[in-house]
Amino acid sequence: MSTGTAILAEGLRKRYATHTALHGIDLEVPTGTVLGVLGPNGAGKTTTVRILATLLAPDGGRAVVAGHDVAREPREVRRRIGLSGQYAAVDQMLTGRENLVLLGRLLRLGRRGAEARAQELLDRFGLLDAADRPAGTYSGGMRRRLDLAACVVGDPEVLFLDEPTTGLDPTSRNVLWNVVRELVGGGVTVLLTTQYLEEADELADRVAVVDAGRVVAEGSPDELKRKVGTDRLEVTVARPDQLAQAAAALAVLGGRVPTVDEDAVRVTVPLEHGLDDVALAASELRRRGVTAADFQVRRPSLDDVFFALTGTAAKADSPTQEGADER
Ligand SMILES: Nc1ncnc2c1ncn2[C@@H]1O[C@H](COP(=O)(O)OP(=O)(O)O)[C@@H](O)[C@H]1O
Ligand SMILES: [Mg+2]
Repeated sequence: MSTGTAILAEGLRKRYATHTALHGIDLEVPTGTVLGVLGPNGAGKTTTVRILATLLAPDGGRAVVAGHDVAREPREVRRRIGLSGQYAAVDQMLTGRENLVLLGRLLRLGRRGAEARAQELLDRFGLLDAADRPAGTYSGGMRRRLDLAACVVGDPEVLFLDEPTTGLDPTSRNVLWNVVRELVGGGVTVLLTTQYLEEADELADRVAVVDAGRVVAEGSPDELKRKVGTDRLEVTVARPDQLAQAAAALAVLGGRVPTVDEDAVRVTVPLEHGLDDVALAASELRRRGVTAADFQVRRPSLDDVFFALTGTAAKADSPTQEGADER
């Protein structure tokens, strides 16, 4: 492992009774970056995070976090990490401020130090107005932010966020994303699990797609998108009677058969040769007198990637608030 690696997992395996949850997970997260672990329910995300955070022993493989082996030096690891929603438990009876001061004192920051740290975090996470109300009165989004603040009182090098925004409304989710970005800007390494493609796309430098206990793909969001498919050219024609002409024009490219969608009055073709194909398509359409109402190049989305890799439809981009209280 190079010194630039904050999290390294090699061949992690875990079996619960008769069910094998992890079949050998490999991950490598460079210091100061964000890895998104993207996968459907039951993929093994939480199991992986719990092993990396020293809360669960693997049956096989090894992991090094913040420079220390999780099995041999769990205390050294724990001292350097934060884990959302776990041992940074927030007491609902105490105010947001009291919770953070208490944690600061447990971490031996001293009374003054703990109070200053609490004030700083309440401010950074947008909780100053609610600072002196019991945490039990907070909304779902505020609770997640307080939980995250509680995780970083001790200034961790590595932060594990297990589905940090599941069940949050889009506004709260955006606020939380900004908080995470700020932490990353300050040099923290983050491993976050998510079922939301948009979240991985927004926050992660690299994404590991997990399914049924295996990493089925790894790369930057762009690399993953390129892996599943090429860009497509979509031409919507102005007049339905020109649809066949448009299909004939696009058939000239690379030899792949264009797809015709009669309802949308649209012809789609994969772009095998990038811009050259776009130029050729434009001139072929003009030569045949086809008027395009719309002409655009579309990247495969992370949705396409997720579906191609796992056969599971991804969660909608805008989660409902149903699960706001689930932890
Ligand atoms: N304590 C447990 N006992 C038995 N099976 C478990 C336990 N925890 C998780 N599992 C199973 O292991 C698999 C992975 O679970 P988990 O890591 O929680 O996935 P995810 O977080 O991606 O939803 C699932 O099939 C789950 O049902
Ligand atoms: Mg989970």
